[in-house]
Amino acid sequence: MQERLDLAAAGQRQLCFVTGEPGIGKTRLVQEFLDTLPARVNGATLLVGWGQCIDQHGEGEAYLPILEALDRLARGPMGDQVQKLLRRYAPLWLLQMPWLLPPDHVYDAELVGSSPARMLREFCVFLETLAADTPLILWLEDLHWGDKATIDLLDAMAHREDLARLLVVASYRPVDAAVLDAPVRQLKLSLVQHRRAAELVLELLDAEAVGELLAARFPGMSALAELTSLVHQASDGNPLFVVTLTDYLVAHQLLSQQGGVWQVTAPIETILVEIPNSLKDIIELQLQQASAQEVSLLETASVVGTDFPAQAVAAMLGLETDAVELACDRLAQHQQFLVLANPVEWADSNIGRGYQFVHDVYRRMLYNSLSPARRQQLHRRAAIAIELGYRDGRVRLQRISPCILNWAGNRSVLSPICSWPQTRHTSGRRLAKPLLT
Ligand SMILES: Nc1ncnc2c1ncn2[C@@H]1O[C@H](COP(=O)(O)OP(=O)(O)OP(=O)(O)O)[C@@H](O)[C@H]1O
Ligand SMILES: [Mg+2]
Repeated sequence: MQERLDLAAAGQRQLCFVTGEPGIGKTRLVQEFLDTLPARVNGATLLVGWGQCIDQHGEGEAYLPILEALDRLARGPMGDQVQKLLRRYAPLWLLQMPWLLPPDHVYDAELVGSSPARMLREFCVFLETLAADTPLILWLEDLHWGDKATIDLLDAMAHREDLARLLVVASYRPVDAAVLDAPVRQLKLSLVQHRRAAELVLELLDAEAVGELLAARFPGMSALAELTSLVHQASDGNPLFVVTLTDYLVAHQLLSQQGGVWQVTAPIETILVEIPNSLKDIIELQLQQASAQEVSLLETASVVGTDFPAQAVAAMLGLETDAVELACDRLAQHQQFLVLANPVEWADSNIGRGYQFVHDVYRRMLYNSLSPARRQQLHRRAAIAIELGYRDGRVRLQRISPCILNWAGNRSVLSPICSWPQTRHTSGRRLAKPLLT
């Protein structure tokens, strides 16, 4: 990836796909790569825009990860410059991010109904202008869920020849892409074949790599070789499975620290029998040990997203925010399902703690365990909580959580959200009470 970045920094645009099964380390690899990078490259500030695709249950919102990345760029270092270029070269894109516009902004009637081709052209020109002097990394995650418009945009960008100090890093899971018949498959095939993109295929860890991972996690472990062989066998070398399994062994005191030294506390044969067969089994066992209140809270949070504010879950369950925080803190303390994330301030100035699922696989399992009726009910509650809770709730709901809207099922409940910009302000508020109680 460093080689790709060097080429990009020299003005030759690059696209790199990072592929592999769930939990193999795509996100971690890119994150670690970004962490090693200096703030400036060749004397210019290095910009990183990051956007995530989500499972939108159907066709989905166009350009979701691109808009997210643009929003981050517009708020990051050189944000003023990014916004200036958006205003100049990509007004249609700015229209999709109304929170970046001044409140008295007058909408240009000519822009309404502009063609998708113009969106594409605007984006390419904007990006090329920005990346003419500034090295830029666009990191798009989980493109197996990518919408068609985003894929077409990447295709167009990859085929342009103009100078751009741009590196696009795009991750996806090939198996999910095949099952979903996702457009990213064809894009990758064709771009790699024509040498317009590279692919970094992540492979399962071998026993040696699992050993290194365990040695780092358990310094001084007395039976490292036996443990390595056991964990490698059970996990097939999938890092997510390795991490979850070792957490499980610690939680069940099969591994423990005594006098500063880690030890295996039961005969290896016993552990072998006790080890769950799959990641799913481990998570199910963990859920069985959680209280009914904790499971209900986690299920509710699973509808909001991988990150969620305590206030949203509290509103959805009709609880006080501090009661939700207390329960989440208990879990996060042991990194059980959750870890602490950044605090979130709501429109009423209520500041609550933010949490994140340890890995999205936990959220997905909880989410998939919901009955369709409960899922729909929770989606509707989440939609209302988000719209009313966040300052930019209406827009956020439309842009960031379109799947919640889809699942809410009855768009008329939230109809003013869908008719932006003509009706920029509330309603739904009136409906919140009966639905939340
Ligand atoms: N090389 C590694 N060393 C240590 N831990 C790792 C390594 N690779 C991945 N992990 C850990 O394994 C877990 C899964 O990794 P990650 O989230 O990057 O997988 P992913 O491929 O992005 O999965 P998904 O397709 O579900 O998004 C994380 O907890 C991560 O920190
Ligand atoms: Mg990932």
